[in-house]
Order: sequence, then structure tokens, then C-alpha cells
Amino acid sequence: MSLLKEIESRRSVRRYRDLPVSREQVMEILEAGRLSLSGSNTQPWRFMVITDPQKKSAVVKADNDQEWMLQAPVFIACLADLKSRQHEAPVPENTLETSPDNLVKLVIRDTAIAVSFMILQAEHMGLATCWTGWYDQREMRKALGINDEYYVSGILTVGYGAESPDPRPRLSMEEILLSDDLSAERK
Ligand SMILES: Cc1cc2nc3c(=O)[nH]c(=O)nc-3n(C[C@H](O)[C@H](O)[C@H](O)COP(=O)(O)O)c2cc1C
Repeated sequence: MSLLKEIESRRSVRRYRDLPVSREQVMEILEAGRLSLSGSNTQPWRFMVITDPQKKSAVVKADNDQEWMLQAPVFIACLADLKSRQHEAPVPENTLETSPDNLVKLVIRDTAIAVSFMILQAEHMGLATCWTGWYDQREMRKALGINDEYYVSGILTVGYGAESPDPRPRLSMEEILLSDDLSAERK
């Protein structure tokens, strides 16, 4: 399948089959994140692979009790390491969702790129994912057992999907393409 077709067919999946996902499969997904791109090649992404039922429950509780997540055999916690740009500015203390700090924006931006790559790699492997982010940083850090040097960019559920949701609407090309010099060339 072409890459664009895979991007088109990907969905956020919230129902999973009772089938395991191997460590090799997870490592392949993580490899896509590892090879991702970042400003100044900072590579601020860090990951935690979670399969332990107790840890999963703690994560789900922090993630607004989204019980459906527990069906997925694997969670990947996707973290931005706030120290990765400390040569530019000191690590902000207790960074939360409300932080106006540009450093924080940069590491979250770059981590999101890696997560997107991983989602597409999973799709390519026939696995389903859902990026979740319905939590308070403090509560999710506690659930993950990490300190405030990390910003939790998302918790990715990974497994074999048990649903094929309809596509969610997207803005049209006209709405998002603000200018296009190439179209003028055609006239
Ligand atoms: C940063 C982020 C956070 C999200 N958090 C949640 C979440 O907590 N729970 C959930 O069910 N879906 C969550 N989603 C999935 C979005 O709802 C979904 O991507 C969007 O509705 C488009 O649907 P699609 O992914 O199937 O195309 C999140 C997506 C992103 C990118």
C-alpha cells in the first residue's frame, strides 16, 4: 500500500482483540520513533513500554479512567525530556500544560513528530493505536513513576484492532492551503 493510503486508512482505535503484541513488534515501532526528526537533532523523545496490568491500571486511572485502553496489550508512554535543551535554557521546574516556556514547546513539538512516526509504523505493521492525552501532568507522572524532568506527551495504546471506525472529518485542502504559488504557475 502507498504511504498516503496508509495515512488515509489509519484510525484511532479504541477496541482491541485479545491478542499479544511481541517485544520485536514493539521495538520496530520504537525504531520508527528513534529515527524521527527534531530541531537541531535534539531527539528529546523517551519511551516507556508498559504491559504490567497494575501499571496499566494506574495509567488508565490517570488518563481520565478511559477503561477501553485496558483492552490494548501494550501502552507506550511517550515522554519529552525537558533536559534535552538545557544547554539553551535551564530546565523549567514542574512544567505543566499551562507552561508558556518556549523550550517546553520545542521538546513537545519534537516528541510529537516521533509519536506520529510510530503510529504510522504500527499501521504499516497491521497494528492499531490510539494516542491518548486526557490527563494532568502531575497525576500521569506519578502513575508512571517519573519526575518533572519529563513531560508526558502521550500514552499510545497498541494492539490488534477490533473495530474499523469511520473516518473522522478533516478540513478541506481549500481550508488549510492558505497560499499556493504552484497553482499560479499553471495559468
Ligand atoms: C494529542 C492527542 C491526544 C488525544 N487524546 C485522546 C484521548 O485521550 N482519548 C481518545 O479516545 N482519543 C484521543 N485522541 C484521538 C483523537 O480523538 C483522534 O485522533 C481524532 O478524533 C481524529 O480521529 P482519527 O485519529 O481516527 O483520525 C488524541 C489524539 C491526539 C493527537
